[in-house]
Amino acid sequence: MPNVRLGLISCGNMGASLARSVHGLPDAAVVAVCDIVEEKACALAGELDARCFTDYMELLGCDDIDAVIVASPNFAHCEMTVAAADAKKHVFCEKPMALNVADCRAMIEACERSGVKLMVGQVLRYLPVFETITELVESGDFGRPFSVSTCRIGGAWGAAGARAPWRYKAEQCGGVLFEVNQHEIDYMRRLLGDAKSVFAAMGQYVRQDIDFADLNYVLIHFQRGGIGCLMTGQAAEIGSYDGKVLCDKGSIFFDNGRRRVTYRVAGKEPVEIDVRKRKFEPGVRKELRQFCEAIVRDEEPAIPGSEGLRNVEIAEAAILSAREGRLAELPL
Ligand SMILES: NC(=O)c1ccc[n+]([C@@H]2O[C@H](COP(=O)([O-])OP(=O)(O)OC[C@H]3O[C@@H](n4cnc5c(N)ncnc54)[C@H](O)[C@@H]3O)[C@@H](O)[C@H]2O)c1
Repeated sequence: MPNVRLGLISCGNMGASLARSVHGLPDAAVVAVCDIVEEKACALAGELDARCFTDYMELLGCDDIDAVIVASPNFAHCEMTVAAADAKKHVFCEKPMALNVADCRAMIEACERSGVKLMVGQVLRYLPVFETITELVESGDFGRPFSVSTCRIGGAWGAAGARAPWRYKAEQCGGVLFEVNQHEIDYMRRLLGDAKSVFAAMGQYVRQDIDFADLNYVLIHFQRGGIGCLMTGQAAEIGSYDGKVLCDKGSIFFDNGRRRVTYRVAGKEPVEIDVRKRKFEPGVRKELRQFCEAIVRDEEPAIPGSEGLRNVEIAEAAILSAREGRLAELPL
């Protein structure tokens, strides 16, 4: 019997990807899956040799489930996590942890009350370009990082109406800073620490099929003195995802599309790394392995709820700042 028996709540694209990744882990198995769309749940259950549910509360009632993966649309993360904690299941929750700080707190409190682990799926940290940058920064050769800027822009969610309807509504997905940029915000915090204030400007210029800003500029001041700058949105016809990490003894530029990292340490020649030639554990498998190990060893998960909360707080602060035209001080 595997040490960690998992239930999957929501069998959409990400849920299926997470569940399939569990197959690569020696000590864990997905034993049940749930989706309100029965055919989706049954198809994935068949593939994984798991039981199939359409009501997640029934899945939470199973005694042979130790932990759940919450991979539902963003608006349901809080409700499902709290219910899972109340049912004494450990929780791996996809990003964004929730759509506001109050819900994040409720999730953390529910897990603490029940003595279960809570980990948030901030997988970008574990993707090759970003693991490469982290290794460089942590080598010490670059000195202290003081600036992370990222531009992640593109067009619509594929063709009009191609994605699930929840992604087009702020109330359900939170907008781009929640649905997409929790990753970039998390990575800035990974390198620069916690934030102290946020200033943002946003607007809706091109897209008529969403009810949130399609262009966002976010400036973040960090407690240790660094600055983060995020340009993001869905208003561009040309997709682009790149950025720059400045340190006091060197600089690191990245192009995530081309999987290239270029760096220069002060006084040395520039170096370009083709990240595709480097070997990494797949990010989704790594985060789930860490989650399962934390359960087995009874340790704090690698990315606990407190981290997800800080990322959500920055997105919430940015929206507040843009709406009121002022600097938003943290904590909110
Ligand atoms: N870490 C990443 O890089 C990454 C990538 C993509 C998506 N995500 C996150 O994963 C989550 C899911 O995204 P997705 O792309 O799989 O969305 P999706 O729309 O493909 O899937 C969502 C699924 O949830 C199901 N669902 C809705 N309500 C439910 C309920 N009450 N009970 C059970 N199932 C229910 C839907 O039927 C659907 O199958 C989102 O939070 C998203 O932000 C993370």
